[in-house]
This record gives sequence, C-alpha cells and structure tokens, in this order.
Amino acid sequence: MTFTENTVSVVIGGNSGIGQAVVTALAARPGQVNSASRRTGLDISDEQSVEQYFAALGRVDHVVFTAGSQAPGGKVTDVNMSEAKAAFDVKFWGSLAVAKAAAKHIRPGGTLTLTSGFLARRTVPGTFVKTAMNAALEAVAKILARELSPIRVNVISPGLTDTEAYQAMNSEARHAMLERAAASLPAGRFGRAQDLAMGYLSVIDNPFITGAVIDIDGGALIN
Ligand SMILES: NC(=O)c1ccc[n+]([C@@H]2O[C@H](COP(=O)([O-])OP(=O)(O)OC[C@H]3O[C@@H](n4cnc5c(N)ncnc54)[C@H](OP(=O)(O)O)[C@@H]3O)[C@@H](O)[C@H]2O)c1
Repeated sequence: MTFTENTVSVVIGGNSGIGQAVVTALAARPGQVNSASRRTGLDISDEQSVEQYFAALGRVDHVVFTAGSQAPGGKVTDVNMSEAKAAFDVKFWGSLAVAKAAAKHIRPGGTLTLTSGFLARRTVPGTFVKTAMNAALEAVAKILARELSPIRVNVISPGLTDTEAYQAMNSEARHAMLERAAASLPAGRFGRAQDLAMGYLSVIDNPFITGAVIDIDGGALIN
C-alpha cells in the first residue's frame, strides 16, 4: 500500500514497547503518525473517549492497536474476577471500542491491525486470562475482517518480546526470563519490538492479507 503525504496512521498504545516501534517504522514513511494511550489522554476502556478521539481525528488510513499488556496470572479457580475483567476491559473490549469507532473513519482499502499473543493458542497453566482474552480477540478479528471489508483487518500475535511490559520485574529476573526464552525457542532469540514492528508493516503493505493471525513468536507455537 502506497504511503503519501496524506496518509494518516494511528497507533493505540504507541507510546511504549511494540507500539512505539510501529510508530518509529511508520514515521520513516511519508504521512502523519498519531500515537495515543493514557499518557496522551486516551483511556481505551472508556468507549465514549475512544469515539471522541476518532471523531476528532477524521479520516484515517491505518489503525494499529497494541495497548493493554497487563493481565493477572494464576489458576482459573483462584481468579480475582475484578482484575480479570479489568484486563478484558482494556485489551479485549478496548480493541473492540477502537474497531467500532475507527471503522467509521478508516477509508476503504485502509487497515486495522490488532494484537493478540502466543498464549491465545498455547495451554499454559496460570495464564488463562491472557489465553482467553487473546483467543477471543483473534476470533472476533476474523468476523470483523468480513464485516468491515474492504477495510482489511488482521492480528499480530507476538511471542515473548522485551518491552516495558516487563519493567516491574527486577533486571536480573527479566534478563534470565529472556535468556531462557532465547535458549529454548527455535529462532534462538527473544523478540525485540522492532521484530514485531516489521510484521505490522507487512500486513499494512500487503493488499492480499485480511482476516489473518500472524505469529511472530520465534517459533513458540511449534516448540
Ligand atoms: N511483550 C510481550 O512479550 C508480549 C507477548 C504477547 C503479547 N503481547 C501484546 O502486545 C501488545 C503490546 O505489548 P508491549 O509489550 O508493547 O506492552 P507495553 O510496552 O506495556 O505497551 C502497552 C501500552 O498499552 C497502553 N495502555 C495500557 N492501558 C491502556 C488504556 N486503558 N488505554 C490506553 N492505552 C493503554 C500503555 O500506555 P499508557 O500507560 O500510556 O496508557 C502502554 O504503552 C499488548 O497487547 C500485549 O498483550 C506482548
């Protein structure tokens, strides 16, 4: 897809991690790139704010959603329902609020790219909130791709990627987690935000990709 000075892109969650790398990659092309998250005044769990954000922006070409990396861990039977629902409110319902609001403004032939995660299709005890949220999102994205055509809708599913999502960990534990992943994954490395950004750009660019879930996970799902 050709980028011109008139191309408008939006990255929801673009102020850190994977989203920030997508913003950097898009900014190297002609056109305008907008980045939004709570720190710029947009809380995606507030549907009305999301509607207002897109209404103020007007016509857009490409919308990327990378927000909401946090979800409680633990067994299903130990779940803190309000924490689990809050995670869904941000990532699952937030993605749908963005899809709903953005659909009115994305021009025909434009794109919406959502983000799931490898746990959507991997059975790991103690991670069910991420599994459920991301699996639900992947399922809805395929329906959206039919309903919003000719807007193309795709999902990028990251594997373990070194971002601010892990900044609460102490640096030793974070380093050990990343090195363990690099040693066990078929790709022999953990993910960098730039690795993921290339995937978002490729689904934006390729006019024959829609309704797809693209795994960029170092081989986590074949491991
Ligand atoms: N990193 C990984 O290993 C990994 C693996 C699988 C899947 N993923 C998925 O990839 C996506 C990006 O992850 P990341 O690692 O880049 O995470 P990140 O660096 O933590 O970025 C997530 C962004 O979401 C924004 N956000 C959180 N709550 C929000 C809200 N209510 N409204 C608006 N924005 C909100 C945050 O910005 P503000 O604080 O400014 O709101 C933050 O910039 C996430 O959906 C995550 O689940 C990541």
